[in-house]
Parts: sequence; structure tokens; C-alpha cells
Amino acid sequence: MKTLRILFSFLFIVSIVTGAQAQSKAGKAALENIHQRKSVRTYSDKKIPDNVMTELLRAAMAAPTGMNVQPWHFIVLTDTSQYDRIFAGNFNMRMFKESAAVVILCADTTYMRPTRDNPNGPAVLQINRIWRDDMGACTENFLLACEAYGLGACWTACYPFPDRMNSIKETLNLPPTVVPYSVVPVGYPRLNEKPKDKWKPEKIHYGRW
Ligand SMILES: Cc1cc2nc3c(=O)[nH]c(=O)nc-3n(C[C@H](O)[C@H](O)[C@H](O)COP(=O)(O)O)c2cc1C
Repeated sequence: MKTLRILFSFLFIVSIVTGAQAQSKAGKAALENIHQRKSVRTYSDKKIPDNVMTELLRAAMAAPTGMNVQPWHFIVLTDTSQYDRIFAGNFNMRMFKESAAVVILCADTTYMRPTRDNPNGPAVLQINRIWRDDMGACTENFLLACEAYGLGACWTACYPFPDRMNSIKETLNLPPTVVPYSVVPVGYPRLNEKPKDKWKPEKIHYGRW
């Protein structure tokens, strides 16, 4: 009986230790993915499977947002013959046309919710004042998912540049409250771009500036 008890205790401890190790392996992989992410601007002609694109967008939609408003909409483009019209030469067209897909990450700057003063009242139209922050988190999640799938991608600024935003808004008929925030070409890397080392301990201030 005593031997059995010792054996079970041993197995219990082993299961805890190996479980903790498995978790730390996953944690290391997640950090490694963050550190490996880089802007990739050249792509092979390999297509992105639909299920992979869905997973990239699922990761983008997992981002945190103020009051959980989730203001995003995504426009996935693969027909390069439309690009001259949509982007009107305002972006790096060589990069866009070489990529397997260009994803426009948009934000609805308004949302429907009951007001704070009347939380059980009817949903009313409200202005989202922090959609830019939401979309930054969303774009970064999308880029990290690209890295995890061995894809290359490049965050390309859209908001707040009127020339970049206007051609997209007009050609794709975005609703008036929707803003194209960032544009991300995605594809399998053609070259071997490396992440930059950005670690600068002098940027950290403990307790005081
Ligand atoms: C808000 C934002 C806007 C950017 N706009 C562009 C852009 O218009 N064109 C481009 O080639 N790269 C753009 N980039 C990519 C940056 O140039 C790149 O992130 C930076 O040089 C650091 O390199 P890394 O992404 O490889 O770490 C943008 C990045 C951010 C975060």
C-alpha cells in the first residue's frame, strides 16, 4: 500500500513537472515568433491556402479592443488586375503585385451599444475614440500569425494619409464611417529577410525617467 502511495505521488509530481515544461515550450515558441517577425517585401508565386488565410484573420480578430468593440473589417484581395485602380499608385505596387494577397484592415469608427448612463436601455450609435489603438493591435496580431505560418508580410500605412485612404474608400465603396487603417501584402518569402535587433536597454526607465 505504502509503495503504491509513493508511486502515485511520484507520477503526480512527474506530470506536474512535464506539464510545466510543455507550457514553457509553448511560451518560448510564442516569444520566438515575436522576435522572428520582420517586414517582408519580396514574395514567391506560391498561393496562400484559404484555410491559412482564415487562421490569419482569426488571429487578427483575437486582438484586444477598448470595451471589446472589435471595430475591424477585412478586405482580402487576390486579383492583381484591380490593384492599379484600388491603390492608384499610392503604395509600393511592385510589392503588392508580387504578393499572394493584399489584406486591407479597416475600422468602423462607430458602434451600437446602450450608453454607460443607461446600460439597460436601447443600443445607440456611438463614436469609437480609440479605434486606432484597436487596429494597431489587430494588425500586429495578423503579422504575428503570418510569421507563425512561414508567410512574409509588411504593414503598410494607410490611415491617416488621405491619398492612400481615398482611392480605397472610393473604389471599394466603403461605408462613410469605415476607415482603411493598414494594408498588408502577404506571401511566401522569396528572399531570406532577417529580423532586426531592436533591444535597447537604455530605453527602459525603472521607477523614474
Ligand atoms: C504604422 C506603420 C506603418 C508602416 N508603413 C510602411 C509603409 O508604408 N511601407 C513599408 O514598406 N513599410 C512600412 N512599415 C514597416 C516598417 O518600415 C517596419 O516595420 C520597420 O522598418 C521595422 O522593420 P521590421 O518590421 O522588419 O521590424 C510600417 C510599419 C508600421 C508599424
